[in-house]
Amino acid sequence: MLTSNFKVQNPKPLISNRAIFCLLLLAAYSLLSLGCRYDMQDQPRYKAFKKNDFFADNKAMRELPEGTVARGYLRENKAFYQGKKENAGSNNATAATAAVAATTTDASGNTVVTSFPDAIEKNPVPVTQELLDRGEQRYKVFCIVCHGPVGSGDGMVVRRGYPKPPTYHDDRLRGAPDGHFFDVITNGWGKMNSYGSQIPAADRWAIVAYIRALQISQNPNGNVQMTQNNAGNAVNQTTPSNSATTQNQNTGGQNR
Ligand code: HEC
Repeated sequence: MLTSNFKVQNPKPLISNRAIFCLLLLAAYSLLSLGCRYDMQDQPRYKAFKKNDFFADNKAMRELPEGTVARGYLRENKAFYQGKKENAGSNNATAATAAVAATTTDASGNTVVTSFPDAIEKNPVPVTQELLDRGEQRYKVFCIVCHGPVGSGDGMVVRRGYPKPPTYHDDRLRGAPDGHFFDVITNGWGKMNSYGSQIPAADRWAIVAYIRALQISQNPNGNVQMTQNNAGNAVNQTTPSNSATTQNQNTGGQNR
């Protein structure tokens, strides 16, 4: 009975070939699409202060090349932006710039400097009525509280106990170059804060022009030499008010 009428029948498949094909296609598609997808927020990158062995200094963040200037901040005009002469402060300083400004402290603890070898003499901005008006307005915003309405150092804050600034109306400051006033506003002076970050350079020059106008207005002699270089002869001009016997009420102040 070896040759019976035994018939081999193919069992019916559970899923059709077509369905398997479709499933495989779907799986391949989803694998591919998952593997190749990179969202922008997941980019390969280094955070600013992360370590990175690729560079010799192991910093991911690179140093700025020397002399890099942020866009719009190229301040080549030294006279306008610093109130200093072109060769001021350089290493190969000339005799003028090498001169060290003599600094003393007066009776109220204020820093008294009588020579300004690096400061430019003249306001680089043409002095017009508009400039003076602007200077007056800015002076009243930023300076009047301490320096007072005409610059005698009796502002409201001072009357309430703040250290008294020197008057603008002595020979030392009358003879000081414009660049000195600009420097004081820009970088501060002794106990006075710097205003460089609050007052743009053009407005600082407007204030300087206005201070010059105040000085003329309060000068009984009326013969102000506004742009005289004070180096050398200025010590003799200093008013003899800083006597050592005067009580010093501001010894805690920082002078520079
Ligand atoms: C909060 C008070 C205060 C304000 C505001 C102020 N100053 Fe002064 N200023 C002082 C004091 C205090 C001194 C004396 C500092 C020292 O010598 O230690 C001084 C000194 C000065 C001097 C004399 C520098 C020297 O050679 O002795 C000038 C010039 C000056 N200020 C200009 C200005 C101008 C311009 C403004 C406005 C942009 C201004 N100050 C705003 C307090 C102030």
